[in-house]
Amino acid sequence: MMKRRFAALLACLLAAATVVSADEGMWLPSLIGRQVKDMKAKGFRLSAKDIYDINRASLKDAIVLFDRGCTGELVSEEGLLLTNHHCGYGQVQSHSSLEHDYLTNGFWAMNRAEELPNPGLEVSFLVRMDDVTDRVLEGVTDGMDPQARKERIAENSRILVEETLAAYGDRKGYEAAVESMYYGNQYFLFTYRTFRDVRLVGAPPSSIGKFGGDTDNWMWPRHTGDFTVFRIYADADNQPADYSPENVPYRPEKHFTISTRGIDEGDFTFVYGFPGTTREYVTSDYVDYVLNDLNPNTIRMRTERLDIIGAAMEADPAVRIKYASKAAMIANAWKKWQGESLGLARLGTVDKKRAYEARLAEWMADRPEYAGLLDRMHAVYDAWRPYALANSLYRESIFTIELLKMVQQLETAMALGKSFPDAAVLYKDYEPAVDRQLAEAMIEEFVTAVPTEFVPQQLTAAIAQVGGVPAYVDYLFAQSAFATRERYEALCALDEEAFVNTMAADPAVALYSLAGMTYNTEIVPEYQRLSAEIDALYPLYMRAQMAFEPERNFYPDANLTLRVAYGSVEGYRPEDGIYCLPFTTLEGIIAKDNPAIYDYDVPDRLRALYDAKDYGRWAINVGTKKEPFYTVPVAFIATNHTTGGNSGSPVLNGRGELIGINFDRTWLSTMSDLEFDPAMCRNIAVDIRYVLFVIDKVCGAGYLLDEMTIR
Ligand code: ARG
Ligand code: GLU
Repeated sequence: MMKRRFAALLACLLAAATVVSADEGMWLPSLIGRQVKDMKAKGFRLSAKDIYDINRASLKDAIVLFDRGCTGELVSEEGLLLTNHHCGYGQVQSHSSLEHDYLTNGFWAMNRAEELPNPGLEVSFLVRMDDVTDRVLEGVTDGMDPQARKERIAENSRILVEETLAAYGDRKGYEAAVESMYYGNQYFLFTYRTFRDVRLVGAPPSSIGKFGGDTDNWMWPRHTGDFTVFRIYADADNQPADYSPENVPYRPEKHFTISTRGIDEGDFTFVYGFPGTTREYVTSDYVDYVLNDLNPNTIRMRTERLDIIGAAMEADPAVRIKYASKAAMIANAWKKWQGESLGLARLGTVDKKRAYEARLAEWMADRPEYAGLLDRMHAVYDAWRPYALANSLYRESIFTIELLKMVQQLETAMALGKSFPDAAVLYKDYEPAVDRQLAEAMIEEFVTAVPTEFVPQQLTAAIAQVGGVPAYVDYLFAQSAFATRERYEALCALDEEAFVNTMAADPAVALYSLAGMTYNTEIVPEYQRLSAEIDALYPLYMRAQMAFEPERNFYPDANLTLRVAYGSVEGYRPEDGIYCLPFTTLEGIIAKDNPAIYDYDVPDRLRALYDAKDYGRWAINVGTKKEPFYTVPVAFIATNHTTGGNSGSPVLNGRGELIGINFDRTWLSTMSDLEFDPAMCRNIAVDIRYVLFVIDKVCGAGYLLDEMTIR
């Protein structure tokens, strides 16, 4: 009865752990009871059941997974939802054009009829989560073949999901998924309810929502009003439904009360949302790979792409709109990886882990169940590393070329028997001249940075034949039917025979197939096989760590399931002699004001309010009683352990009231996905009072505040 042993052992290991007082950790809401004592000692005023309860409304019912990658929170009885500006960026961009530049100017619906639908946008509420470890591990044994193990788990999970959905019958919008915790030692079934009619209510201008742009991104002190407002719609019975003009605002079971009382340094806070991925328990080999192979290559490749795109955006406002969202996406991880590498080097994570593994090895020496485990992991990682790198570099270089993405979209549509992708959609944000430059840089990278054995020889030969990468790219863009919208339209209009002949002779189609074939045959299968082998070793390795350190309070790595992180509002010391305060104000925005720089061009309306000191009820006194100084709070930091996916998460006070919206981490904390440093790691939130001030005073949409519960 292997599976029972897993579960029992895990329960016992977790129970043994004394609750340590660190702000590291992302805790499962259904098990938050184990942390509540510690949370209460730090200022939490509610109970575990207020956070998660399946029998009555709890805070989880006011939180959504937004667009499968961010978090959002409900703030009214009528489905009003807050998330980050950068989470709704794609939607705001999709409604924008040169005539209606909502990215630059912002957008506010002045009534419900003006709220804009967003096809494809979804939000999911967690209905419940259940421990299904025994069921998932039925028939799984430790020594089992990795592939067979993976398939067995997938099959058991599939059945569980099927049963769950069957139990909900034809009630709409239910989804279910099984997720692993502690590297396959514990499994939960998550049941969600997904809504598909989510409308854009308002977004501040980018000069607020993305103030500081990519320069300030991942930085503190910060002055970004990173929020956007949406509304969830449901059918007449309050059930999920596809978009329809007949739909009505969704009435949620719970929405957050907003606190405008303010916050002080040291105050308890918690973040309740959907963190995406952390890897706190991996071996030194993985961290070494990230630090020495992966990050240096991907950072360099993205630097080149950003230089090209940045110059083109600078030169032409139309290009700026088309590439704004793409550039932001590329820049975000690019900058994060740089901070991460610095952090890992500063903390010496690789060496620390090596030393830890040496101690672990000693402890394992007289425990036969772990015999050879560390050596096996090390050997498999060695084999895995070149494949993992090639896999990532294909995606970061050659597969980023949009010309090839056009081919891919057409071929995918054909394979699925669908009609050709619409030229207007496909080419909406495309500039052939920019893509040509990108293609040149990325093909150059591809043939030099990817290990030679993974570069198709036919490509190297083709490049040599025309005399180098620039000439090859010239030829590619001059000849391909995908290089401009006009040519693509002409291609789609051809009769079948001519279409087939043109496709067969097209150099972009040829390059796409060549790269795709090498990638799919030479890299992916081996990469997946070795990854599965590593995955199969981790359950035991994780148990070893838990048994080795019975006092340590282990939390499961993030995997885009709902979590609670808690900590306090705290500054930090970035270097000797410097202390960063945990708050920023409007004063900092005005100090950064520079109309000559797009990202720092404070909107006139905000400047005018500042000049008139017209802050209404949002003014706070940062001076003294005798000599008051009034300003508006903007952002704050706290010690909560967060990661990508936590964007848009509610930041809550001890009473569970909304005090901010999480949107970032500081540059010095980005390594926390691999190692958390309590001295340095801070999440960044926009103060809810700034959000309300902007809606009310700057954007003139104060009517929205009427439906909120503000304390
Ligand atoms: N760094 C934040 C996150 O990881 C915000 C990203 C969006 N902002 C930007 N300037 N690109 O998502
Ligand atoms: N901005 C991130 C997001 O989109 C959150 C920042 C982080 O990685 O902590 O989720």
